Amino acid sequence: MKIAIVGATGLVGREILKVIEESNFNVEEVLLFASKRSKGKKITYQNTELIVKDLEEWELYNFDYALFSAGGETSKKYIPLMNKKGIKVIDNSSAFRMDSNIPLVVPSVNKNIIKNNTLLISNPNCSTIQMVVVLDILNKISKINRVVVSTYQSVSGAGQEGVDELINNTKSRLLNEGKIKTDKFKRNIDLNCIPHIDVFLDNDYTKEEQKMIDETSKIMGRELPLTATCVRVPSITGHSESVNIEFEKIVSLEDIKNKLNDSEDIILLDDPSSLDYPVNSDAKGTNHVFVGRIRKDNSLNNAINLWIVADNIRVGAATNAVRILKHLLELDQN
Ligand code: A2P
Repeated sequence: MKIAIVGATGLVGREILKVIEESNFNVEEVLLFASKRSKGKKITYQNTELIVKDLEEWELYNFDYALFSAGGETSKKYIPLMNKKGIKVIDNSSAFRMDSNIPLVVPSVNKNIIKNNTLLISNPNCSTIQMVVVLDILNKISKINRVVVSTYQSVSGAGQEGVDELINNTKSRLLNEGKIKTDKFKRNIDLNCIPHIDVFLDNDYTKEEQKMIDETSKIMGRELPLTATCVRVPSITGHSESVNIEFEKIVSLEDIKNKLNDSEDIILLDDPSSLDYPVNSDAKGTNHVFVGRIRKDNSLNNAINLWIVADNIRVGAATNAVRILKHLLELDQN
């Protein structure tokens, strides 16, 4: 089995390579693709140096599966061509996510919608993934009627350029250089929380917020009323979410904690008496979704509040994509 990573020099692409390295797949060859700019760059995999190839020359190489994380336009241009040749693709961009023919998958929730002949699977938005892992478990305790979510999203969600903009603006402030960039974020991300991710839509939501709304329903397989406010914060890795969940029935907090504890995807850190709750650094570099601050919503009998944190580059992108790949491989081997 030969695997291509498209966008291999990017934050998510590099993490995909790491997650593949950590998995025990029987991989014959990994091919790394990026733009022309990166042709010839070297990236280490299993103690050997792999040479990055120009994506425009992809037809010169043989591979069976491709994992894309190189932006929507690159996905739209190359994925249909690869699919035509029978190459199975997992796409991290939003290009095909809401296409009704394309499965949008978080493996713990809905991997069963992938069939043997599925050629393209979309990886959901990072904030959506970590939330639906939790919602799916709670929805089995009592049907969820409505969700209100506010996110606190790290700059790595905007790729390497997003990380650079925060670091450079912070440096510039500390060194009194007065050089502030607002290329990636429309306001200075240093010391600010910016309630704006992706573009604004006609309904006054941002596209990031609309993605959470639309993708959650698609993954859960039913219209799930949800409203979202997505905020960029000056942290580098890890997205945090404050989530209010209204159930059909009154649920016990004990039941919720037990069910979350039973999941191998989740780590519960929830003991206010010892100041135990998840923060970004708990989640960084892990494949787990961290949950804490679970409490009754005092304004509504059948609602709760909780706090969810995960590594957006891993859980929200690379790990989810590699878990989809693992499922594809299992299907193809049977
Ligand atoms: P490159 O490094 O050559 O620009 P990030 O999300 O961290 O910014 O990474 C984006 C990734 O997508 C990088 O690997 C980048 O490669 C890749 N990329 C961007 N545009 C293209 C393109 N037109 N063709 C191939 N890869 C691209």
